[in-house]
Amino acid sequence: MVGGVEEHLTVGRVAELAGVTVRTLHHYDEIGLVRPSARTAAGYRAYAAPDVERLREVLAYRRLGFGLREIADLVDDPATDAVARLWRLRGLLLQQRDRAAAMVTAMDRELAARMRGIRTTPEEQLKVFGAQLYDTIGSAYPATRRTEPRIAARIRDALGDARTVLNVGAGTGSYEPADRDVVAVEPSAVMRAQRPVGAAPCVAASAERLPFADRSFDAAMAVSTIHHWRDPVAGLREMRRVARRVVVFTYDAGGTDRLQRFWLTRDYLPEFTGLLTDWPSLADLTQAIGGRAEPVLVPWDCADGFFEAYWRRPEAYLDDHVRRAVSVWTKVGPQAERRAVDALREDLSSGRWAERNRHLLALDAAELGLRLLVA
Ligand SMILES: C[S@@+](CC[C@H](N)C(=O)[O-])C[C@H]1O[C@@H](n2cnc3c(N)ncnc32)[C@H](O)[C@@H]1O
Repeated sequence: MVGGVEEHLTVGRVAELAGVTVRTLHHYDEIGLVRPSARTAAGYRAYAAPDVERLREVLAYRRLGFGLREIADLVDDPATDAVARLWRLRGLLLQQRDRAAAMVTAMDRELAARMRGIRTTPEEQLKVFGAQLYDTIGSAYPATRRTEPRIAARIRDALGDARTVLNVGAGTGSYEPADRDVVAVEPSAVMRAQRPVGAAPCVAASAERLPFADRSFDAAMAVSTIHHWRDPVAGLREMRRVARRVVVFTYDAGGTDRLQRFWLTRDYLPEFTGLLTDWPSLADLTQAIGGRAEPVLVPWDCADGFFEAYWRRPEAYLDDHVRRAVSVWTKVGPQAERRAVDALREDLSSGRWAERNRHLLALDAAELGLRLLVA
């Protein structure tokens, strides 16, 4: 790390350390991307600590495949500070690492199959590029996603006296009751790898095809996951098949007020409705398990950082690591995300958000469409 103000690095030394050519550094200087601001004793341009910091960011974005013009926008983004930019970069690097890890796993599988004389199908060869969403965003999950005790209590009550419990779409294991005999099901390798030591055994499978016999469990639970399933109704039927009781924490995507009930979607992220177009109605979901739906209010200080969790703490949505742990932001795409966040930041600093949402500050919990399905 570059130390005090006097410490600076010559262009040659910087090139050597960073593994780039001096020509590249001169080019960055010419186009104004990274301008060395210090001078050596002999009057040559030299890189001071802030220049090196900026260069590090530029080189990381280069390595991620961004073009120089895009990089200039990212590093000069006036809306973010240095720490927020590091979080963003870190998230992108982790995504790239996870994607590469998923491809290596798929290739190892193919090499092993070829050694046994088995050829992979064209579908299998392409599947890795459309890898599970959670294989790319999953590593950001544990930063803010954890068990919310009041929701956990509702789930525990609904599980009743069930001794054996199947947790479908289990992720890193939030909400798994420690006092029952739990088996987890999770299709994403990245999520499985983040399950803590001592967590319940986890099977690599999907809800739509549970590898268990009929009625193998007292209860099956699924938390914040069915909106990711390819076929939620088929998955719920599978849960019903393998368990006597079913408990599902999910979201009611129906009703004309679905955009209106949360200020974030109403005023900043109307793209959210686009994510719900093919989503089954609450009636279809409850019918699939033969059960009922109960509202779950979101406490103002909700410990599980899901999309609606910060309804009374709007500043949280400005944090990149809060957003990276929620798939909605990845699904709406970077443009909608940036626009929504910029508008929210502006409204928070101008007092407009407070003006519109003052009434929320008096509430301890809010009805935002979250439901517990119980059968
Ligand atoms: C938002 S996370 C929820 C994880 C955990 N239940 C929790 O509450 O923290 C959604 C999880 O569903 C998983 N998932 C996606 N598609 C699935 C499917 N078809 N069957 C089962 N799980 C799936 C994802 O890999 C991810 O781990």
